[in-house]
Amino acid sequence: MQILETERLSLRVFELEDLDAFAAIEADPDVMKYFASGPRSRETAARAIAWYRTLQEQRGRSFWAVIHKADNCLIGLCGLIPQRVDDSDEIEVAYRLDKSYWGQGFAAEAATAVCKWGFDHLDVPRLISIIDPDNITSIRVAEKNGMSHVDQAEYDGKVCHIYAIARPQTQPPPWASLISPDHDIHDGTFYA
Ligand SMILES: CC(C)(COP(=O)(O)OP(=O)(O)OC[C@H]1O[C@@H](n2cnc3c(N)ncnc32)[C@H](O)[C@@H]1OP(=O)(O)O)[C@@H](O)C(=O)NCCC(=O)NCCS
Repeated sequence: MQILETERLSLRVFELEDLDAFAAIEADPDVMKYFASGPRSRETAARAIAWYRTLQEQRGRSFWAVIHKADNCLIGLCGLIPQRVDDSDEIEVAYRLDKSYWGQGFAAEAATAVCKWGFDHLDVPRLISIIDPDNITSIRVAEKNGMSHVDQAEYDGKVCHIYAIARPQTQPPPWASLISPDHDIHDGTFYA
């Protein structure tokens, strides 16, 4: 199932057939340099795909497969995942790409589109990215995505930067269209 499309990329739900391409990315020590786990096994990659599919089914958002339209190759992942940061629930815009596609603006292109999708579809006041302070490339992607450094927090066993972008005022939350100015009298129903 396709989620969104940009000029050069298509983002879709992960399929079980993505395992070969995805496992190769997850096994690359350069891609996984800033993750406490380090490179991941094929089995872990398979479990991750299963989790991404479950998350999509249950929550309607997940990590999505990033497809490079020009050659139809899976070049990484980008998406929206739940995170707990300093006792508060957040949604993170996260990404990692096959090394051979780095430096061409693909991460920023995907992350920007995912961010817009997030504000269009989720009732969240902000989106964040959790970034190792040494990961200059990822910091640059967050900045190109309109985020700024707002905090730091313990994550994955180390102190990380929290980058965030607030919901743009031009992008009302998804439920806003349900509210009509005529309906200002509460009918007593409790919408738990
Ligand atoms: C982070 C990652 C997804 C970026 O992918 P990408 O497609 O190369 O990113 P982009 O091309 O959109 O943007 C990279 C930016 O970083 C800049 N950059 C790269 N290395 C840099 C460095 N050492 N110092 C300063 N800027 C640097 C690039 O110049 C570019 O900015 P610009 O467009 O203003 O010139 C990719 O490097 C990756 O998969 N890394 C491993 C996984 C990871 O760390 N994910 C993030 C976890 S928080």
